[in-house]
Amino acid sequence: MSRRLLVTGGAGFIGSNFVHHVVENTDDRVIVLDKLTYAGNQKSLEGLPDDRVELVVGDIADDALVGELVPRVDAVVHYAAESHNDNSLNDPRPFLDTNIIGTYTLLEAVRRQDTRFHHISTDEVYGDLELDDPARFTESTPYNPSSPYSSTKAGSDLLVRAWVRSFGVRATISNCSNNYGPYQHVEKFIPRQITNVLRGIRPKLYGKGENVRDWIHADDHSSAVMTILDKGEIGETYLIGADGEKDNKTVVELILTLLGQEPDAYDHVTDRAGHDLRYAIDSTKLRTELGWMPQFQDFEAGLAATIDWYRENESWWAPTKDGVEAFYAAKGQ
Ligand code: NAD
Ligand code: DAU
Repeated sequence: MSRRLLVTGGAGFIGSNFVHHVVENTDDRVIVLDKLTYAGNQKSLEGLPDDRVELVVGDIADDALVGELVPRVDAVVHYAAESHNDNSLNDPRPFLDTNIIGTYTLLEAVRRQDTRFHHISTDEVYGDLELDDPARFTESTPYNPSSPYSSTKAGSDLLVRAWVRSFGVRATISNCSNNYGPYQHVEKFIPRQITNVLRGIRPKLYGKGENVRDWIHADDHSSAVMTILDKGEIGETYLIGADGEKDNKTVVELILTLLGQEPDAYDHVTDRAGHDLRYAIDSTKLRTELGWMPQFQDFEAGLAATIDWYRENESWWAPTKDGVEAFYAAKGQ
């Protein structure tokens, strides 16, 4: 049976990938609630049918607006957030407003309507791991966030848990590792380096480039979220990951090679303050209890397809590129 979904942040990177996934793989209809901050882009929803996808421009912290939208849907999938660590070091306030107060506002609305809620979160709530630590993050790893971004995401997760226990809100949580794919803002690592090379700028690697991220294609994140919406147990947390650990230096070298450049044609720049060393996800629970599997098992092939997307969609990213590079240049990055 087809559902009506409210997707917050559906004009952002992962949210828009999810909306495309829903339209391509289900009969569900979607209302996107997105503030269209610097990170939101209406163009990411172009080509989707009007009778399946409606865009409402507004703030998740607007209680009256959220109160109008939630009664129109069967479930809320909550992606909206301030999502970039580097921005959170520059100006933490919007992270508190959206990630904490915004999530609180949505929780109160779904509580009033008894609406199913799925909260999208990050592996960064668990802090970081040593490079040689044999352990990976699991659902029982203690919270230990490092940055203003990850601490507000951790706070939002704890609000969801409290609303489940105290008020019986029908919610699930997922914590995913680093996503890559189309429609990602050029402030983020992989699209920044791809678009740098396309513009003739040398890629910029923070510090020594030894930091490890656990990469997953955004479409695999979407299929995992659909699986949790369909089969997840209320009150449970599920970790989403695709066994994609790579250090940043390896990723930059691969981007350069795929673009026909020398693999060492990059610059080392000022490191990020408080830079988390390594994230790694153990997604056994999601795979064994709910039967989910990632489809994009070959990182190099997924990266090559992502490079092609940025090559073919310069009009999507070009308007933001110069501003992003000026922001980083001012910080020596
Ligand atoms: P993004 O920055 O690309 O998109 C965020 C979207 O939220 C934008 O469209 C923006 O306009 C919207 N938004 C921001 N504040 C809003 C507000 N107050 N009201 C309504 N809309 C608002 O982020 P992303 O990378 O797509 O991340 C989406 C979610 O996934 C976030 O919750 C993030 O924490 C989580 N996550 C991201 C990753 C990753 O690798 N990018 C990994 C795991 C989890
Ligand atoms: O782990 C999930 C998280 O992944 C999400 O919660 C965040 O929303 C998302 O932004 C991402 O966080 P990171 O901080 O890991 O992503 P970012 O793309 O900013 O950086 C990835 C790595 O690359 C990190 O070690 C910093 C480094 N980096 C980043 C930039 C922008 C560089 O070396 N050079 C760069 O220019």
